[in-house]
Amino acid sequence: MGVAAIEAEGDAISDQTMQLCRESDAILFGAVGGVPRYEGPETKIQPERALFRLRKELALYANLRPIRPFAALLNASTIKADVLRGTDLLVVRELTGGIYYGKPSEIRETAQGLEAIDTLIYSGAEIERIVRTAFELARDRRHKVTSVDKANVLSSSRLWRRIADDVAADFPDVTLEHLLVDACAMHLIRRPASFDVIVTENMFGDILTDEASMLAGSMGMLPSASLGTRRTAHGLFGLYEPIHGSAPDIAGQEKANPIAAILTVALMLRYSFNLKEEAEAIERAVEGIVEGGYRTEDLREEGKEGKEVVGTEEMGRLIAEAVLG
Ligand code: IPM
Ligand code: MG
Repeated sequence: MGVAAIEAEGDAISDQTMQLCRESDAILFGAVGGVPRYEGPETKIQPERALFRLRKELALYANLRPIRPFAALLNASTIKADVLRGTDLLVVRELTGGIYYGKPSEIRETAQGLEAIDTLIYSGAEIERIVRTAFELARDRRHKVTSVDKANVLSSSRLWRRIADDVAADFPDVTLEHLLVDACAMHLIRRPASFDVIVTENMFGDILTDEASMLAGSMGMLPSASLGTRRTAHGLFGLYEPIHGSAPDIAGQEKANPIAAILTVALMLRYSFNLKEEAEAIERAVEGIVEGGYRTEDLREEGKEGKEVVGTEEMGRLIAEAVLG
């Protein structure tokens, strides 16, 4: 998919590849985008389209992005360790609706010159299913949901808030808090430990999770799982992707952090294959290696003793070795 598929097959993802994905139990996805020759305004096929097609056609509407900074990385973050301590949150991002998919979406000529339009549309049913997912997940955690919207400006957010209140009535054991997205952006770095599950629409979730990744020290640390309702013989069908892009600026330089991709595999084992212990083994291995002082370039702490900066391959090898024990 992506640039490779555009160059080999003429589309960001071919129908055959889509079919192969549909027939699989899970999809492990690398990263997409950021290739300069496909980013200009003249680009006909955006590589990102592959991702949008996978998410939408496979009905993977719930994107789970867990953020739990490792104790050993508290000082690698730009946020103070005291503020970070105890942070363990899960962003549930709506993934198949909103402004990413609303039509019309175009740049067009008018008598007054060019104009552009994007459409933010949500059905009540789309809102309800994602909010319900968030409440269900909160039941296995600390029983708190923060619903994030922009209800002081957007109609879609006013409907979102109304439905969140309705769903909350079915979960008396879970506390619901509403936050405006701008305030949420602030509280994420002011009181990150106070959040449990955050549920929000597609674009707010995109933006807030890049911000939240800084709590974990780097974008290169954050995995994600995109789920729907389809079950296979082994678990939930899902698409698994790190939250970061393909970082072509550092391609081939051994600087990329493989941890987000590795933790993504752990999520895949947990949700799509019901392999809980195996998932935990990977997560423990990653944490152990980080605790042992190994860092990729993005986590470099200037002047710190006992930290070793290793390349992408070496980091992967160390973690694989730790998994095998
Ligand atoms: C993400 C990414 C994608 C998105 C890009 C690559 C289109 O930023 O998964 O967060 O905006 O959804
Ligand atoms: Mg993003």
